[in-house]
Amino acid sequence: MSARRGELLAVSDLHVAHAENRRVLDRLRPRSDDDWLIVAGDVGELFADVERTLRQLAGTFSRVIWTPGNHELWTHPKDPVQLRGERRYRRLVEVCRTLGVVTPEDPFPVWEGTGGPLTVAPLFLLYDYSFRRGRAAGAATREEALASAREAGIVCNDEFFLHPDPYPTRDAWCRERLAYTERRLAQRDPLLPTVLVSHFPLTEGPLLPLRHPEFALWCGTERTADWHRRYRAAAVVYGHLHIPRVQEEDGVLFTEVSIGYPREWRRHGLPADPLRRVLPVGVR
Ligand SMILES: [Fe+2]
Ligand SMILES: [Fe+2]
Repeated sequence: MSARRGELLAVSDLHVAHAENRRVLDRLRPRSDDDWLIVAGDVGELFADVERTLRQLAGTFSRVIWTPGNHELWTHPKDPVQLRGERRYRRLVEVCRTLGVVTPEDPFPVWEGTGGPLTVAPLFLLYDYSFRRGRAAGAATREEALASAREAGIVCNDEFFLHPDPYPTRDAWCRERLAYTERRLAQRDPLLPTVLVSHFPLTEGPLLPLRHPEFALWCGTERTADWHRRYRAAAVVYGHLHIPRVQEEDGVLFTEVSIGYPREWRRHGLPADPLRRVLPVGVR
C-alpha cells in the first residue's frame, strides 16, 4: 500500500465581507498534514480582510497558493488602503511573502504529493473584454461591446473600483500580464505537467450557463483558449463565475471552485467540507 501523500485542494470566491462566508472559512481544514490549498481569488475587497484570511489559511495548511481575483484589486472607498492597480497588487504580493503564501510572482511550486510531480502555476491574467456574448456578441470593438452590455443593464463593478494604473485600461494590463505569464510558463520544467490556476476562466466553455451572458466581457480572454494544451495541463482551476462545476475539455478537467455569495450558495447549501479536490483527480 502506498503512503498517503496529501491532496491538492482548492477554493475561490470566499468573499469574506459576508459573515456567513467567514463561518465557512473557519470550517476549511486540511484532510492531512501534507495537503496544499489553492485560493483562486476573490477573498474579499478590503486589504485587511484579504491579509487576515490568507494569514488564517497559511496557519492551517502546509502550503497556500493564491492568485488575485478582481475583488482583491478593487480600491473600495471604505478601504483605508487606497492603493490602486499594479501598486495594490504588488502590496498584496508583499503581504503574501511575509505569510509564506505563493503568488503568481514566485517560482512555481512543484506538487510532489499524490498524482505528482506537477508544476502548480498560479496565473494573474485579468480580462480583455474579448469574450463577447449575448447582446455584446459580434461587437467589433471593446467600446461597442461595453455599450451593448450597458443596454442590457450589465456593468461589472470593476468599471468603478478596479483601476488599471499605471496602465491606461484593464485590457492593457491584461496584455502585459499575458506576456509576462507566457515568459514565466516558458521557463518551467517542460517535462512536468501543470495545474493552471486562474481566477478567470481560461476558455469560453464555462461561460455558457451565465445568467447574463454580457457579463462574459469581464470573465477572461480568448488568448488563453489553448493554454491547457500548450502548457500540458493535468487540471485547470478557476473561479469568478460563482457557478461551481467540473467540465472536461480535451481530456483536461476544468474545475470552478467558488463559494460565492451567501444568497447564491444558500439555495442549495454547501457541503460540510466545501473544498474541491484537484489532485488526485476526482470531483471532490
Ligand atoms: Fe467572486
Ligand atoms: Fe471575481
